[in-house]
Amino acid sequence: MSKLAILGGPATRQKPFPAWPIYDEGEERALLEVLRSGQWWSGSLSYGGPSGGGAESKSQEFEQAFAAFHGVRFGLACATGTAALELALKAAGVGPGDEVIVPPYTFLATASAPLLVGAIPVFCDIEPGTLNLDPARLLEAITPRTKAIIPVHFAGVAADMEGILAIARPRGIFVLEDAAHGHGGGTRAGRLGALGDAGTFSFQASKNMTSGEGGLVLTDNAEVAELCNSYIWAGRKVGRPWYEHYRLGWNYRITEFQSAILLQQLKRLPEQTARRMRSGYWLNERLAQVPGIEPMAVPEWVTEHAFHLYIFRFDAEAFGMSRERFLEALQAEGIPCSGGYSQPLYRNPLFVENNFWGNGAPLTPPGEKIDYLRFVEQCPVSERACREAVWIEHRVLLAEPEEIADIARAIEKIYFCRGDLRD
Ligand SMILES: Cc1ncc(COP(=O)(O)O)c(C=O)c1O
Repeated sequence: MSKLAILGGPATRQKPFPAWPIYDEGEERALLEVLRSGQWWSGSLSYGGPSGGGAESKSQEFEQAFAAFHGVRFGLACATGTAALELALKAAGVGPGDEVIVPPYTFLATASAPLLVGAIPVFCDIEPGTLNLDPARLLEAITPRTKAIIPVHFAGVAADMEGILAIARPRGIFVLEDAAHGHGGGTRAGRLGALGDAGTFSFQASKNMTSGEGGLVLTDNAEVAELCNSYIWAGRKVGRPWYEHYRLGWNYRITEFQSAILLQQLKRLPEQTARRMRSGYWLNERLAQVPGIEPMAVPEWVTEHAFHLYIFRFDAEAFGMSRERFLEALQAEGIPCSGGYSQPLYRNPLFVENNFWGNGAPLTPPGEKIDYLRFVEQCPVSERACREAVWIEHRVLLAEPEEIADIARAIEKIYFCRGDLRD
């Protein structure tokens, strides 16, 4: 076996992996069409209301196409995935005095959206196999104030929705799926984002479908859809005069340019999901043979894994080197990778210092500080994931099978040459 690249040997992989985003003449034509039409804004014809009937804009067309793809009645496109979470929570009636249960191993938005509508995020640990919210831990987190639960389909693998819904439904708790990693993923019960009371998506640059920025709320609930739509449009009501405002909302619209791109990205999604799955499942099998590498589990209810990220757990002891050293060595072999989140969300100063009071934040201080560091002890699996996970971006999984084999070869090479690379 040749010398490790980090020690001056030849890199396992010399060529780059596919770049992201991917686009073709479809996006180019769609963008030009919007540009030349002069209709750059989804509201320029009329205020359309929740999807239904004919589309008057690219944005309505996209909302309808995305909702239909998920077998859901309403799709409400908006500015970002964070905005989608805020909208859905507010439409579900979540506000001051309420608690929202969230995992700590996720992007900030899952936990900041509750704060932005005046509610308190309460962290609940994740399952070691999937890194998704652990239903077995939910009961300890639920209090009489719990109004909503936000499971994240982390990395694109479905959370245990059956387990979560079984706990939430009898208690009247709203289940909002954060499907920011879930485009194209699914279970026997349906697609990700279509399994709870509402689901949200992000179309930010790194996501499996992107228009640079963008978000969307999916729901079958007509009241939630009407409220989300109203909040996106500055609290207006469909059918009422333009300058009549009924509710405290935002201007959270998506643009026609973004929607035109997303219509094209949606067409490509099934083929790309199949590619990511082929690569991800192949890697799962091959890497399970390498001591010290533990690919993430795929529960039996998963029918499509969206593979927003390819993740495995790295055992520093088995390799005799730190994860950071391993990451450097793998990058040197030509494999783009990272360690993901450096800490669970509750360790951020925002939470530790309770920096969400005052400054116009919609919360009233309860008189005493919320001790977010108590979650360090309550969430050992999230703590461990931050130390041990290795992430590979979804774009890499779009490569050809022979190129995917380079990832396995590089990891195996580092394992076999581990003696040369002690910390
Ligand atoms: C799990 C998760 N939820 C929510 C978001 C928020 O999406 P956005 O960046 O579009 O606001 C992201 C990504 O950025 C995410 O990864």
